Amino acid sequence: MKKRIWIVGGSSGIGLELVKIWLQEGNCVISSARNATNSKELLALKQIYEEQLQIIDVDVTSINSVKKAVTQAWKRFDGIDVWFYNAAVYEVMSTKEWNIEYFEAMMQINYMGAVRVMSEILPYFEKKGEGRWIWNASLSSYFGLPLGGGYSAPKAALLNLAESLQPELNVKGIELQVVNHGFVKTRLTQKNSFDMPELMTPEVAAQNIIKVIKKPYRFEIHFPFKLSTFLQTLRLLPYRISLVLTKKMLPKEIS
Ligand SMILES: NC(=O)c1ccc[n+]([C@@H]2O[C@H](COP(=O)([O-])OP(=O)(O)OC[C@H]3O[C@@H](n4cnc5c(N)ncnc54)[C@H](OP(=O)(O)O)[C@@H]3O)[C@@H](O)[C@H]2O)c1
Repeated sequence: MKKRIWIVGGSSGIGLELVKIWLQEGNCVISSARNATNSKELLALKQIYEEQLQIIDVDVTSINSVKKAVTQAWKRFDGIDVWFYNAAVYEVMSTKEWNIEYFEAMMQINYMGAVRVMSEILPYFEKKGEGRWIWNASLSSYFGLPLGGGYSAPKAALLNLAESLQPELNVKGIELQVVNHGFVKTRLTQKNSFDMPELMTPEVAAQNIIKVIKKPYRFEIHFPFKLSTFLQTLRLLPYRISLVLTKKMLPKEIS
């Protein structure tokens, strides 16, 4: 069945690939990001899918911008069936390179952005009494890895928030789903100088996400298998073992 989907963080990388697939499938899609209305890729898609695609700018760090975008997005196709939260920024920092602005941006976009959109969109979904929210977290939400805590801590907060909200939203008819996936080759990971196991293209990541969200509802979607199993195991192990293992991941210049 065709859906009305709003993706926040849908102008590049995985989000842009999701937009392409959803449009090809005949869905109505609203794609948002800070500068979405100037995105060459989205504007090119708009030429092809004039009626099916709406592009709306939003900066999730600003509540006023979020309020405006939620109103516009809900109106455009007379309701929304799926809200997909995909916005995030990423910085890897050793203690030597700590930058408070980066920490703040990651918290404001990767976590608080979802909270802002959620608080504005909830009344609409409550009134409708059904719908799905999908939040793109990360496998990094399972366990803090060296140098990555500024990014993974807000993602862990997002996962924890989702766990806490799921039962209450379920009673309201809203299905909340979390996507935890591994490394994808996008501008986000371009800055990584380390080897990224099981690195995927954004196309593959988007296809995987779409395949799984079409299946009967499950709270969490996670892939790829080896990396998610490794990180799940790390979470289950006693800290005296897991922290010895993560110490081995420190770059040579630090360890
Ligand atoms: N790449 C990976 O290896 C990986 C792994 C696990 C999870 N993820 C998650 O997958 C999602 C997509 O990441 P990606 O790799 O595809 O990165 P990306 O290409 O940088 O996409 C991030 C999206 O978020 C938007 N965005 C950033 N700041 C925003 C703000 N303040 N307000 C509104 N939108 C904002 C960006 O557009 P503008 O900058 O134009 O606003 C862009 O559309 C993220 O949630 C990321 O954490 C990625």
